[in-house]
Amino acid sequence: MAYYRRVGEVPGKRHTQFRDSEGVLRYEELMGEEGFTSDSSLLYHRTIPSAIVGSEIWDLGEQSTLPNHPMKPRHLRLHELFAVDEAAGIDAVTGRRLVLGNGDVRIGYVVAGAVSPYYRNSIGDECVYVESGHGVVETIFGVLPYRTGDFVVIPRATTHRWVPDAAEGPSRLYPIEGNSHIAPPKRYLSRFGQLLEHAPYCERDLYGPDEPLLAEGADVEVLVKHRGSTGVVGTRFTYADHPFDVVGWDGCLYPYTFNVEDFMPITGKVHQPPPVHQVFEGDNFVVCAFVPRKVDYHPLSIPVPYYHSNVDSDEVMFYVGGDYAARKGSGIGIGSVSLHPGGHAHGPQPGAMEASIGVQQVDELAVMVDTFRPLELGEAATASDDGVYAWVWAGRKIR
Ligand SMILES: [Fe+2]
Repeated sequence: MAYYRRVGEVPGKRHTQFRDSEGVLRYEELMGEEGFTSDSSLLYHRTIPSAIVGSEIWDLGEQSTLPNHPMKPRHLRLHELFAVDEAAGIDAVTGRRLVLGNGDVRIGYVVAGAVSPYYRNSIGDECVYVESGHGVVETIFGVLPYRTGDFVVIPRATTHRWVPDAAEGPSRLYPIEGNSHIAPPKRYLSRFGQLLEHAPYCERDLYGPDEPLLAEGADVEVLVKHRGSTGVVGTRFTYADHPFDVVGWDGCLYPYTFNVEDFMPITGKVHQPPPVHQVFEGDNFVVCAFVPRKVDYHPLSIPVPYYHSNVDSDEVMFYVGGDYAARKGSGIGIGSVSLHPGGHAHGPQPGAMEASIGVQQVDELAVMVDTFRPLELGEAATASDDGVYAWVWAGRKIR
């Protein structure tokens, strides 16, 4: 994020004395990416941000994955993973279940009604898609309200917690955890980082914290997800003072939300390829949004996609709204995920091409993650696999 933001009190000159009304020095922290050579923010703490008084193992639960072997396209029914009446006891951090993952990204799912523990992911940025629900994410940068359709982008190592508005029901969340940073596509940015005119969204559509969030407390636990010799592991830090002690900050690194309704679709005379739907990118993966839009206006156009072999990627579609015309008859509905692995050509269901001719607009809403290395199946994929999606194009299976 090259978009400068300033919240709360900061001194006029960086790295100089900054005292409270009693004359006590604030503790300045630089939070920066890529070894002091990329985006950063300066945060001013009331207490020492390094002061931990405890470090214990945090067991992340089942994080193992299985290869998609023998290879099959798959249909996962995420809504079967959680009973809504149990959500009051489930939080957005410890309750998330691993659906798909590889060495670059992990995709989870959770239906959360409880306030989460304090948490930071030191492996990479998180981009959490809010399928439904609303509430706030409290962070050391301030409070981020969230609602249905938001992508909540939380930079690596940002201490935060999820507070769903329980009165309105639980929040259905689809966390995309990168092992890298997650940012707007480079082709949409000027050489100084401003979103360009051909981008499908701009800085006005991004919402960051507006004011500091201060809390009092001692011996406060924070769950830290980090890298270990066995992959993703967890540690429970106990901080001497409450981590929400930042009186002000400024810079270009901070959490923000972007709502999918603010994505202005790029359409064409004939079918447009998936990159026009791209919202974000990380190392070896992209995040796209297929939103309601007018479709192709060539008199002989076929609005549903052509068959395509993503020879370099696995494709994960999460269907969150409307009716996805190309998948009609496949059993896919709201809450479904389709996994189309590289090495298998996929495309519309039988009959979908003819049925789409003459259609002027579509009401589909889907979030896509394409990965450039193969995805493996987490326990939540195994638990929600419909077992028959691979055969829907042929309508039969022999082995
Ligand atoms: Fe596709």
